[in-house]
Amino acid sequence: MKRILLDCDPGIDDALAIGLAHGSPELEIAGLTTVAGNVELEHTTANALKLADFYGIDAPIAAGADRPLVRDRLTAKHVHGPTGLGDAVLPEPESKPIPDHAVDFIIDTLAEAPGQISLVAVGPLTNIALALRKEPRIARWAREFVVMGGSYTRGNVTPAAEFNVHADPEAAAVALGAPWETVLIGLDLTTQARATGEVRARFAALGRLDRDLLTPCLDAFAGPDARRLGPALHDACAVAYAIAPHLFTTRPAHVDVETTGRFTAGMTVTDFNAAEKTTRVATELDQAPFWDLVTDALGRVAER
Ligand code: BDR
Ligand code: CA
Repeated sequence: MKRILLDCDPGIDDALAIGLAHGSPELEIAGLTTVAGNVELEHTTANALKLADFYGIDAPIAAGADRPLVRDRLTAKHVHGPTGLGDAVLPEPESKPIPDHAVDFIIDTLAEAPGQISLVAVGPLTNIALALRKEPRIARWAREFVVMGGSYTRGNVTPAAEFNVHADPEAAAVALGAPWETVLIGLDLTTQARATGEVRARFAALGRLDRDLLTPCLDAFAGPDARRLGPALHDACAVAYAIAPHLFTTRPAHVDVETTGRFTAGMTVTDFNAAEKTTRVATELDQAPFWDLVTDALGRVAER
């Protein structure tokens, strides 16, 4: 059993990623940490708590950074809705966040079990950068660092940049520059994970889970490609990597984050030919077993 610490900004695809983690017997959730991203921190934290209650997750939830390191806040409400879960209306949470700040919780959790816990980040990397600045040894303590972020072809917020990196490029530069085993699950990979009509038909068999969460989330998950091709479950891919890395083709590369470009801030400049390769970059997804993994996990959650 692998333990994961999931840093997230729920967020529709974050919600699916949390469900995937909870329903996977291969994983134990060591904790959820929240960050400002798709919506403000108050909403990402409330959503994490609501989702924990809805799914039946019993794990610490810690709230983190409410803004990027140096830039103004950027949200993706036009994609995730004003409070982050599309049209889903979950009951007010009974769970409460722990008093610790997410940054301290990340440091303490990794310190307690060096080499054992995978850190999976599916929001802007603000908490991770702050944690690295406070305690650089977390880069040695984490078993691996799996990030949903970036792309080596095109972005989704700008032609050059993907949302999680673009929202806090300075944090991404710190996080991706640290000496851990980094796996970057960017848009080139995650756009292969589209919840097509066929996938949605499988979700429809999940009863209340589909009715109360998946359908109102995924129907609202906006964007022209999402409507035409089905929404890409970006963040679920990062959790799936932690469960089943063999479903992913990765290539070693050197990745730098552009922080100063007028048109390219937040671009992940990826050099597959660099002499010093720091990161494994995901390129191809084995789609059929990926969807089996996701629907089986959500099926287990639905039965609980
Ligand atoms: C990423 O940005 C967010 O909007 C999603 O939750 C995902 O983490 C995709 O670019
Ligand atoms: Ca996210």
